[in-house]
Amino acid sequence: MQILDGKALSSKIKDEVALEVKQLKIETGRVPGLAVILVGNDEASHAYVGMKKKACDAVGFYSVTHEMPKDISQEAIEKTIEMMNENPNIDGILVQLPLPEQIDTTRLLELVAPEKDVDGFHPFNVGRLTTGLDGFVPCTPLGIMKLLQEYKIDVKGMNACVVGASNIVGKPMASLLLNANASVDICHIYTKDLKKHTLEADILLVGVGVINLIKEDMVKDNVIIIDIGINRAENGKLVGDVDFENVSKKASFITPVPGGVGPMTIAMLLRNTLESAKLRKN
Ligand code: GUN
Repeated sequence: MQILDGKALSSKIKDEVALEVKQLKIETGRVPGLAVILVGNDEASHAYVGMKKKACDAVGFYSVTHEMPKDISQEAIEKTIEMMNENPNIDGILVQLPLPEQIDTTRLLELVAPEKDVDGFHPFNVGRLTTGLDGFVPCTPLGIMKLLQEYKIDVKGMNACVVGASNIVGKPMASLLLNANASVDICHIYTKDLKKHTLEADILLVGVGVINLIKEDMVKDNVIIIDIGINRAENGKLVGDVDFENVSKKASFITPVPGGVGPMTIAMLLRNTLESAKLRKN
């Protein structure tokens, strides 16, 4: 069994990004800029945005976080997004999800200029991904593909099972795997017999937020495990959706939590924002 070390790879990518930021600054006099909209008091969202901000600072980006109260109006957020769309110092716009109930999330995501949509959530970029065209790809699935690439894992012809069908992770993950010529099976809350699906998987990717959802009797020998879950266990520790201790004994490769997929997500946000800045340069 080999660990897929997202922490190490993300650190390598961050070093590369930092170097490119320096070069970009010499060439153009400016650095990539990321604007984040953070609404309400969701603890996890605050923690994620904090990590993103720290990563931006570390590679030399300009970044700004617009914190808004949870009872903010739709109109006020829309105005902020429009302002960011126009702002030449901003290359990437990120609306941290989830948003409070009164907010129309789809409408906001559609308002973000597709060329600044570094999260890849705008339907324009979703459509490009689905059709196999270039464009911004959501950071978590993109980070997973990079991690597989780093360990020379080619999914062509593999049975891939994606558990979780969200717009942020599951669906774009399935598109990327399909574009890389895997056979893709997508499972979700209405799937009748999850085990029947997971047992077929050569590569199993799970991100639903349920501790120990995947147990050793649900996977075949030599499976590749990508654990996208982040949960707080009763003892306060961060754990994924996979029973790591027992499943890892059967796996050929496995991502740890923490230190697997999480750091790759942030590294891809930096990469996407840098790419956006480089495109804007021209
Ligand atoms: N909420 C959970 N994951 C993400 C993400 O990758 N991007 C944004 N904007 N919100 C999230």
